[in-house]
Amino acid sequence: MQNAGIAALRLNWRYLAFDVHPDHLRAAINGAKAMKFIGLNLTVPHKLLALRMVDELDPSAKTWGAVNTIRFEAPDPQGRWQPLVEFADEVPDEMRAVGFNTDADAVARALREDLGTELRNASVLLLGAGGAGRVAALKLASEAVGRLFLVNRTMKKAEQIADAIRQRFPRQEVAVGYPQTQVDLVINATSLGLKPEDALPVDEKHFSLRRARAVYDLIYRPAETSLMKAAKAAGCRTANGVGMLLHQGAKALEIWSGKSPPIEVMRGALEEAINDSMTSDPVPTRYD
Ligand code: ATR
Repeated sequence: MQNAGIAALRLNWRYLAFDVHPDHLRAAINGAKAMKFIGLNLTVPHKLLALRMVDELDPSAKTWGAVNTIRFEAPDPQGRWQPLVEFADEVPDEMRAVGFNTDADAVARALREDLGTELRNASVLLLGAGGAGRVAALKLASEAVGRLFLVNRTMKKAEQIADAIRQRFPRQEVAVGYPQTQVDLVINATSLGLKPEDALPVDEKHFSLRRARAVYDLIYRPAETSLMKAAKAAGCRTANGVGMLLHQGAKALEIWSGKSPPIEVMRGALEEAINDSMTSDPVPTRYD
């Protein structure tokens, strides 16, 4: 996805994957900075750790409490920090790392585009209270959804997110537990569905999918998860996590390049990569 986007923008860059132990994250960020990388993406468990390892936090990283994108910057002749894309020739040795978060906006955009869900005033049941669930819950509250129901195997974690929402968005109606009524949207932010033996993330004794209008699964491989199949059978609109993966990446490319990202090119490459991987390596995967 990123290399297709980079090529379409005619940038002489390469996007590479590195497996970094959390104990070496600081060294890896500093190493990338010393080698004058354009930027980095980070995934679990690095997103929280990186908050303390960058030189500057963009408001997006402060607001959502996690860093999934880093941009390296250097001072221009006037001493103003600029992204490295702005330097045609020599990049000064003095550099800084700025942390951003593109996950929260991506989930809201994917819900709107892929399910046509208007978030404002929508009632939402959110399953899962890990890192992804937390960002999704806070973003939904910031979008002023109607009623927000949080469910998690470890209820205490859902309570903690509900408390954080009550503090930051005092007008948001938020409850821990299954709703008794219909909801506009169910979101699966748990990892249930990644293993073949997994139960559905929603407990049908407490909540029938017939009471939901739309279901979003953060899992994107396989393209149709067991939850999506069950939701379709119950008459819901469904979408998988590809849109979230796409939009967080497209926004990162915009942050690094300062250019409008070629979203459809990136979507095509992403879908092709997922399809190809289904034959060679059909391991269920979720955006995290
Ligand atoms: P991430 O940061 O990517 O969201 P995570 O922190 O590992 O990942 O969160 C995984 C989510 O899936 C959590 O909500 C987790 O529930 P717990 O908070 O109780 O651990 C949920 N989850 C994982 N395995 C589960 C299982 N077997 N049954 C129910 N929920 C499960």
